[in-house]
Amino acid sequence: MAREFFCAGSGGPEPYTGKDMLTAHKGMNISEQEYLAAMDDIIGAMDKHGLDQDTRKDVIAILYSLKGEIIRV
Ligand code: HEM
Repeated sequence: MAREFFCAGSGGPEPYTGKDMLTAHKGMNISEQEYLAAMDDIIGAMDKHGLDQDTRKDVIAILYSLKGEIIRV
C-alpha cells in the first residue's frame, strides 16, 4: 500500500487505492520522533537506490507536507 502511494504520488500510472493519510494514522498517537524516524528510513531507501537530488527533495517536501495528517491525529 505504501509502495502504491509513492508510485501514484510520483506520477503513476497506477492509482493509489488506500486510505488518506489522516484516516490511515488516526488514533495511533504518532510522535514527532516517530514521524522523523519514518522520514529517515525513506531517505535511507532513496540513498540506497541512488535517487537523484531533485527527486529526493521532492519526496522530502511531500512527506513534510503530510506531517499534519500523521502526527498526533
Ligand atoms: C511520512 C511518513 C509516513 C507516510 C508517508 C506513511 C504512509 C502510509 C501509507 C500509504 C499507509 C497505507 C494506508 C492504507 O493501508 O490504506 C500507511 C499505513 C500505516 N502507517 Fe504510515 N506513513 C508514515 C508514517 C508512519 C509512522 C511514523 C507510523 C508509526 C510510528 C506509521 C504507522 C502506520 C500503520 C500502523 C499503518 C497501517 C494502518 C492500517 O492498516 O490501517 N506510519 N502509512
